[in-house]
Amino acid sequence: MYVVMGATGHTGQTIVRHLLRAGVPVRALGRNAQRLAPLAAAGAEVRAGDQADAEFLADAFRGAEAAYTLLPYEISAPGYHAAQDRQGEAIARAVQDSRLRHCIALSSLGADLEQGTGPILSMRRQEQRLSAIDRLDLLVLRAGAFMENFYGALGMIRACGWFGDAFAADAPLPMIAARDIAETAAWALLARGWRGVEVRELLGERDLSHAQAAAILGQRLGLPDLEYRQLEPGEAVDGLIGAGFAPDLAAAYVELAHSINAGLIRSLQGRNATNTTPTRFEDFAEALAQAYRAM
Ligand SMILES: NC(=O)c1ccc[n+]([C@@H]2O[C@H](COP(=O)([O-])OP(=O)(O)OC[C@H]3O[C@@H](n4cnc5c(N)ncnc54)[C@H](OP(=O)(O)O)[C@@H]3O)[C@@H](O)[C@H]2O)c1
Repeated sequence: MYVVMGATGHTGQTIVRHLLRAGVPVRALGRNAQRLAPLAAAGAEVRAGDQADAEFLADAFRGAEAAYTLLPYEISAPGYHAAQDRQGEAIARAVQDSRLRHCIALSSLGADLEQGTGPILSMRRQEQRLSAIDRLDLLVLRAGAFMENFYGALGMIRACGWFGDAFAADAPLPMIAARDIAETAAWALLARGWRGVEVRELLGERDLSHAQAAAILGQRLGLPDLEYRQLEPGEAVDGLIGAGFAPDLAAAYVELAHSINAGLIRSLQGRNATNTTPTRFEDFAEALAQAYRAM
């Protein structure tokens, strides 16, 4: 049995479908039975429950070959780090209580840093919690920025004809499609070829700045002059709160953007054939364009 947390989310859903195609039994975890129903129809055993409930998780992990774990969050919920810690502690307790042997933890580039990384600090703490568990073979996937983040810019593009964020226009960052993370995770779950604690970075097809991403996206949206503007910190925080972010999470994101602008968040392993993944932003932008047209 293979267990996938966040099974209705960007990475989890694709992992479940890869595993089902490989012909192995899959237990898909989410919060909502209705949203899990398509995965049940595809052949997964689905379980809806609170993913910060250690007993629910331990029951799901018990007897499994391996599990994919992540720290989900609501952008609008206040107290981001406290909620992530509760979630992370529940996962760690469940891993211990169920005696799970192989675990993947989705994390982020920047989890090596002790401060200045905003939301990534929670993933750093989760890496540490899971690494401390005896006899657990832990694979940490430190991903770059999800291309899916650009869905959040479409409303602004539609309303203003440009989009902005706290990132410097020319600061390069590794951008990855969630499906590429999912493919790596699914193959790793099946092969279970790591021992002890292993950290693997996933850097997407290439590094892109927001200005470069805007140029590619503009072409796909039929807006060839689409402009990206770096916002002042206060403006960026207000914009995120306006988009539904809790104030503490909005401030954390802007802190993260500033660390990226300063070049502090970077790959420790260097780009290579293993951590470079196939989906180009040019191809992903097609899905963004479809969502934009449907707005
Ligand atoms: N965005 C980035 O650039 C980036 C980069 C590196 C790492 N990450 C990390 O990636 C993780 C997110 O992965 P993802 O994009 O695959 O997941 P996602 O699309 O955000 O989906 C979250 C999943 O978790 C479930 N869930 C359970 N409890 C939840 C809760 N309290 N709040 C929200 N969702 C909850 C959701 O179920 P339902 O919604 O169906 O109930 C859904 O299946 C986060 O830990 C994030 O920090 C993100």
